[in-house]
Amino acid sequence: MHFTVEAQTRVRDWIAPGDITIDATAGNGFDTLFLADAVGPNGLVYAIDIQPAAIERVKGKLTEANLVDRVALCVGDHAELESFVKPEHRIRVACAMFNLGYLPLSDKSIVTRVESSLPAIRTASTMLRPGGVLTILAYVGHDGGRAEADAVADWTTGQSDQFEIERWNDSSNPNSPILWWMQRRKSSVDAI
Ligand SMILES: C[S@@+](CC[C@H](N)C(=O)[O-])C[C@H]1O[C@@H](n2cnc3c(N)ncnc32)[C@H](O)[C@@H]1O
Repeated sequence: MHFTVEAQTRVRDWIAPGDITIDATAGNGFDTLFLADAVGPNGLVYAIDIQPAAIERVKGKLTEANLVDRVALCVGDHAELESFVKPEHRIRVACAMFNLGYLPLSDKSIVTRVESSLPAIRTASTMLRPGGVLTILAYVGHDGGRAEADAVADWTTGQSDQFEIERWNDSSNPNSPILWWMQRRKSSVDAI
């Protein structure tokens, strides 16, 4: 399974033209470009990365693809998600994607850490509209990766009243990435 492609496949049907979406780890822009295409000219993607150089590269790719006008490019820590997302968008997010870890072929010391990724995931989950979807792709092979994935797993355990949750990994590979897909239950809106 190609987990990054699988994450996109799993969210595509839940994004409509005009929607608000979040790429919380923009990196090389693979998910940002996908989301920008999915939301159409009247939608918006918040694309966040802690590395200014990554955001600059994503901007270049979006400009080339003529999609830059529908993306709010944000340099900073996704733990500060609330400071990037406009108040009127904070309860109507259709999709938020997290691709944790470090950017391949880049500085591996700049890596997501549970201290900020878990608060960011929690905040993003509160911003989803009923039917909105969240994906989290975690890698366990680098320092801190296993602890981060375990923390995500623990957190998801307590969410099943508000979210439908699915999880995939390659059970034949002990270092397999883990992909979670979570959809806010329509009936959970009163419980927020
Ligand atoms: C696995 S890469 C994401 C790949 C990306 N989805 C793509 O399509 O190329 C993880 C990214 O998370 C970013 N990152 C690490 N810590 C972060 C933080 N606290 N807030 C926002 N981004 C962070 C890294 O700079 C890196 O670009």
